[in-house]
Amino acid sequence: MYNEKVVEHFCNPRNVGELLEADAIGENGSFKCGDTMKIYLKIKDDRIEDIRFQTYGCGAAIASSSMLTEMVKGLTIDDALKITNQDVADQLGGLPPLKLHCSNLAADALHNAIENFRNGKVHGESA
Ligand code: FES
Repeated sequence: MYNEKVVEHFCNPRNVGELLEADAIGENGSFKCGDTMKIYLKIKDDRIEDIRFQTYGCGAAIASSSMLTEMVKGLTIDDALKITNQDVADQLGGLPPLKLHCSNLAADALHNAIENFRNGKVHGESA
């Protein structure tokens, strides 16, 4: 059901964990499955210097988050905002249709973190 690239990211996820001195933290949850995602960012000169994620999501969510962190590290926050869940799924070589919503978790949590940063906050209201 999953391709090799997805399985590889799921088995060896990149950038997992917490950034203790994060400049911004974004959260997201899926109403579809109840899973949650947290993205931590270190931002310097409007560029993503470091990124970590934590999730209670499924294998597709873990693989998507892992891929997303690799895609956005080093990007400006403007460019990072342009990354969509479909971009992440494409980079993974595709996800099964029933698992496409899982890639929303990471992309939306990233966008939430950047929005918090732009509003001068580390966390959103719910954190
Ligand atoms: Fe919930 Fe995939 S089923 S994130």
